[in-house]
Amino acid sequence: KAPVIAIDGPTASGKGTIAHCVAQALGWAVLDSGALYRLTALACLDSGIDPADEAAVANAARELDARFEGGLVFMHGQDVTDRIRAEVVGNLASQVAAVNEVRQALLDRQRVFRQAPGLVADGRDMGTVVFPDAPLKIFLVADVAARAQRRCKQLKEKGFSANLANLMQDMEARDARDRSRTNAPLVAAADAITIDSSNLSIDETVDAVLGLWSK
Ligand code: CDP
Repeated sequence: KAPVIAIDGPTASGKGTIAHCVAQALGWAVLDSGALYRLTALACLDSGIDPADEAAVANAARELDARFEGGLVFMHGQDVTDRIRAEVVGNLASQVAAVNEVRQALLDRQRVFRQAPGLVADGRDMGTVVFPDAPLKIFLVADVAARAQRRCKQLKEKGFSANLANLMQDMEARDARDRSRTNAPLVAAADAITIDSSNLSIDETVDAVLGLWSK
């Protein structure tokens, strides 16, 4: 089986950026598992599915017509790369992610990303549930102020409005929900190595991961 580097952690801890840079450095594929939860949330928003209707939400996850291509994300052939980054979509993603049937429906879609020469997988449960045999598991954390600032910058770059205080509040609510759900809660795998990136640059964090891989 191709090796997997699992990178899990709370929202806006930098997982996506780090995963991309590590994958690029190694010439590996990358899985943004959060995008699948965001796509499920967007599908619910677009077709007016009540997030409390678990059966309907799970059905939306099973029937997801999604494609990842050259860094872009398509749903029903439409480019939704930027739309899925909206905060409403992220917050709804964390609600649909708590539905067990949704997580089951998305398991195989995630596992097919595993391919030679390797995969860098970014998410909440990459090391605990989706790729428990990953030879390297990173749990990437950063303090909430650093994360809110990163998310604020990222949203503004995408043309969304963003307010730091609101973001901090939403993030803490989202983390609390991700940590306390009963299925695949946000926790470090027993064999994960925690990296705190609060005071690290992107390059320093990437080097730390690459250093652990080459050991
Ligand atoms: O970019 P950010 O870290 O805020 O979020 P994301 O990684 O795109 O994930 C959005 C939401 O999907 C998270 O808040 C989680 O609740 C959920 N998720 C999950 O449950 N499991 C994953 N492997 C990835 C995301």
